[in-house]
Amino acid sequence: MTPACLAGKAKFVACAACHGMDGKGNPALGAPNLTDDVWLHGWGENAIVSMISSGKVNQMPAQADKLTTEQIHVLASYVWGLSNGSKLAAK
Ligand code: HEC
Repeated sequence: MTPACLAGKAKFVACAACHGMDGKGNPALGAPNLTDDVWLHGWGENAIVSMISSGKVNQMPAQADKLTTEQIHVLASYVWGLSNGSKLAAK
């Protein structure tokens, strides 16, 4: 993992309550597995940035007021890396 990914992992603690510490989701809360290659709301880092910033249909809380733009990007690349580890490293 790159240093940015590790920083993202530290921030992911705020997400783990719903998505699980390993990012594998929690069906009881409707929180999707972030480590598979299934993307419900669009594919790629930009879609993840927008999900973290704005939230979704009042289930996934928006984080834009809690995180800086930089933190959101770091988080998004961490989440993206969960299912695309090798591709990320090749970038
Ligand atoms: C209160 C519970 C909760 C928290 C906290 C939370 N999420 Fe979510 N997240 C959800 C739910 C529920 C969905 C599914 C929303 C939907 O399908 O409408 C979701 C969806 C997502 C998606 C889209 C997945 C896809 O398949 O398209 C991403 C990416 C995501 N969350 C990342 C994060 C990150 C990163 C954090 C931490 C900053 C976070 N979430 C915090 C509940 C949560």
